[in-house]
Amino acid sequence: MGQTGDPDRWWHGGVFYQIYPRSFADSNGDGVGDLPGIISRLDYLERLGVAGIWLSPVTVSPNRDWGYDVADYCDIDPDYGTLADLDTLVRAAGRRGIAVLLDLVPNHTSDQHPWFVDARSGPTATYRDYYVWSDPSPGGGPPNNWVSIFGGSAWELDGASGQYFLHNFETQQPDLNWWSEDVRESFDDIVRFWWDRGVAGFRIDVCNMMIKDAELRDNPPATADDPIEQRLMGVKSVYNSDRPEAHDILMRWRALADTYAPGRLLIGETNVEQLSVLAQFYGSGNDELHGGFNFPFINAPLDAGAMRTIVERTETLLAPGAWPIWTGSNHDVSRLATRWAGGDLSRVRCALLLLLTLRGTPFLYQGDEIGLTDGPIEQTDVLDAVGIRFWPHYKGRDPERTPMPWANAPGGGFTEPGVPTWLPMGDPTACNVADQEAEPDSVLAFTRRAIALRTGSDDLSVGPYRSLSSPEGTWAFVRGGHTTVVVNMSDAPQAISALRGTVTLGTDRALEGTAVEGTLEMPPWSGAVLER
Ligand code: NOJ
Repeated sequence: MGQTGDPDRWWHGGVFYQIYPRSFADSNGDGVGDLPGIISRLDYLERLGVAGIWLSPVTVSPNRDWGYDVADYCDIDPDYGTLADLDTLVRAAGRRGIAVLLDLVPNHTSDQHPWFVDARSGPTATYRDYYVWSDPSPGGGPPNNWVSIFGGSAWELDGASGQYFLHNFETQQPDLNWWSEDVRESFDDIVRFWWDRGVAGFRIDVCNMMIKDAELRDNPPATADDPIEQRLMGVKSVYNSDRPEAHDILMRWRALADTYAPGRLLIGETNVEQLSVLAQFYGSGNDELHGGFNFPFINAPLDAGAMRTIVERTETLLAPGAWPIWTGSNHDVSRLATRWAGGDLSRVRCALLLLLTLRGTPFLYQGDEIGLTDGPIEQTDVLDAVGIRFWPHYKGRDPERTPMPWANAPGGGFTEPGVPTWLPMGDPTACNVADQEAEPDSVLAFTRRAIALRTGSDDLSVGPYRSLSSPEGTWAFVRGGHTTVVVNMSDAPQAISALRGTVTLGTDRALEGTAVEGTLEMPPWSGAVLER
């Protein structure tokens, strides 16, 4: 319970941190990160000031899609450790005030999951109905025109039965049939299994996609106005995604979450283009997801006008009581230091300042806090199946998944010297944690100060958001009663007027302590928090 008496304040005011476990910290010298590695870095996370961590999947997986193809939802993959390690992590993190979110992958399993192995054994198999099967279309071939997100038809022929099964991602990731009550009950058991172990909640993979049109209707053709992905696929994802019945499943889990005290969190990977559609995942504000990732924001350029518009629309569209989620990087998109900032640290600081001061919970991705850019990936390094398939047009998601550089040392402090890492380490001399620890004005030091300021301020933790008018290329807003945030997101100096307060945080430290009564002169790509 926080100072305001609001039981949700711990996560509303808190900052979450996404860990990609394979690339975070390797404790046993095999070149792959693991749970004991994460435990060994909890002191770092505590000092950073985060309230929670989200772990990309650590459950058993043959790694066709690096953990997002689950073969056992209730056990830890041996690459990462054991269930006992997970329990230790949850307890050790809890002692430091850090909650643990796991990644729940309900849209599909691995083709090696025992359910699918059984389902494939024939039309009368016990688990047949756990998956989406269909006869060929009347003229032969796949049942309809649905296309996999990862390329090609979303249907795979099972030669033995003559039926097709659905896979919205890799062929090795068969989609579950969420019309089945048995599937729903199995997942009730899975979420309870983890919640009973003290896990605080889940990030839910492609939760907007879980349920498909019951009649398996053809998708309509894409038009010139559609986003690039749909134009490339040739069809709009109308019937294999974003079906209204997905909300019933999420509301069912919310009801389950609310049976725990304190309640457990549900944060959705709501990868939708329309903010109005995102808003629907919050239900009436307290009966569906606690939070949904804002993909229009992630996908926006680092541009004051574009971002402010998205934030204002989000603020308008969310139901009262609903709480936004802001993020700039994850394991599927180029890191913000590359994509938004082009490696420029002033831009990185502006992006971090925004993420850490908007109304809503920020999710930093590992490395954001030190301004880590994408790793160098050559064609021979590529492990992401999508990168292998589409190289060189699309190089896949390996660049944002390279190991965390902890130190300017062989192995980067990620693993032991001389050990080959699962993806290339990159050059840890350029950017690493240890060097930034020693530098009082580093990006890491700035991120720490921003998190501390946010956590200690009612305005920044839970205060309402209000835009202020400001010159083009800048963004100014008020949080709560006493706090103003101003960011110059342009290449020119800018003067922002009608301000009052003292700068308590600046991307440029020289600004801090300045008392402003009227106009603040801001260098290009700089930002400040003023309090009064
Ligand atoms: C979204 C995950 O973030 C991504 O990594 C994965 O490939 C797909 N969902 C399929 O699970």
